[in-house]
Amino acid sequence: MLKIIITGGAGFIGSHLTRKLILENHEVHVIDCLHPYYSLERKRKQLQTIDSLKREHFTQLDLLNWSETISFFQSLSPDAVIHLAALPGVSYSIERPLEYVDYDIKATINVLEACGQSDVRQFIFASSSSVYGNQKGPLKEEMATGNVISPYAASKYSAESFCHVYRHLYGFETKILRFFTVYGPWVRPDMAIGIFLKKLINKQVINLYGEGRVRDFTYIDDIVDGIYLSLTQLHRSEVINIGSGNPISMLSLINELRQYFPEMVVREEESRTGDVVQTWADIRKAKDLLGYRPKINFEHGLAETVKWAKENEAFL
Ligand SMILES: NC(=O)c1ccc[n+]([C@@H]2O[C@H](COP(=O)([O-])OP(=O)(O)OC[C@H]3O[C@@H](n4cnc5c(N)ncnc54)[C@H](O)[C@@H]3O)[C@@H](O)[C@H]2O)c1
Repeated sequence: MLKIIITGGAGFIGSHLTRKLILENHEVHVIDCLHPYYSLERKRKQLQTIDSLKREHFTQLDLLNWSETISFFQSLSPDAVIHLAALPGVSYSIERPLEYVDYDIKATINVLEACGQSDVRQFIFASSSSVYGNQKGPLKEEMATGNVISPYAASKYSAESFCHVYRHLYGFETKILRFFTVYGPWVRPDMAIGIFLKKLINKQVINLYGEGRVRDFTYIDDIVDGIYLSLTQLHRSEVINIGSGNPISMLSLINELRQYFPEMVVREEESRTGDVVQTWADIRKAKDLLGYRPKINFEHGLAETVKWAKENEAFL
């Protein structure tokens, strides 16, 4: 059994991951500041879905607070830290770039320093496919060079560099995982699938920004598997893609959704700045080092997500 801190555990990925770790009998401590980037009602509900298991601990703490972060980590002295807390979202990062310097870089430095000062053995960092910028896939880990196209991606790339720095300073294992467009029940409401589902359920027109865009949509359970395998099966520092390896065009996504919402009306728009054209994960490293195998195909994953959305309209 490991004692684990999950930062951002009230979020989309964090709440799923916390459930899995508790089921596997680990001692899990969730930190989240309940940032209002999207509805707090929804974050509280996500936390409740974990609460029903009655075994995790939740602390509301803003990781930007250096001294409170350090003393919290020192008081717990965890074996592992999984750092998911961040301000996500490409579009918002173009409007408010400095907030990303705070929430995605400075908060990460505070957590890294707190790990060092509390003798943490391993640190897992939630990075993103956006660090590859606008390149053709399949995207291999060594293809990220810092040539990115949004403040969100620049913050993630910079935070990755700080992970390397603190591995060097303190010697803990640092596992940088680059997630590719995650979806599934409780999908983040600012992501394409979340936005489309809300509009379709409310019988509104959906805007398609760049029908040629392609995304390596990855089901939440596969992301959680990838994190779990990195935690338990990998015993060294690495940078690893966690994706499906199966790129899907936005047009295919629309066609798939049309089966559930045959009356859908789509308005085509120009691509938005900051959005890369394509993401496509090369997942050979995850397969070789972790034994990772994505299990949920897109049709099945989308069916589960649509089912969840229909049952949880109030939270979309
Ligand atoms: N969802 C995706 O498709 C995706 C893809 C690539 C990378 N990621 C990364 O994975 C991580 C989790 O993403 P998510 O989709 O679950 O996002 P999310 O917004 O649902 O969860 C992030 C959580 O972090 C919390 N948080 C933010 N700043 C904090 C701070 N200073 N102190 C404490 N808590 C703070 C928020 O309140 C939120 O609950 C993020 O780092 C994100 O950048 C997500």
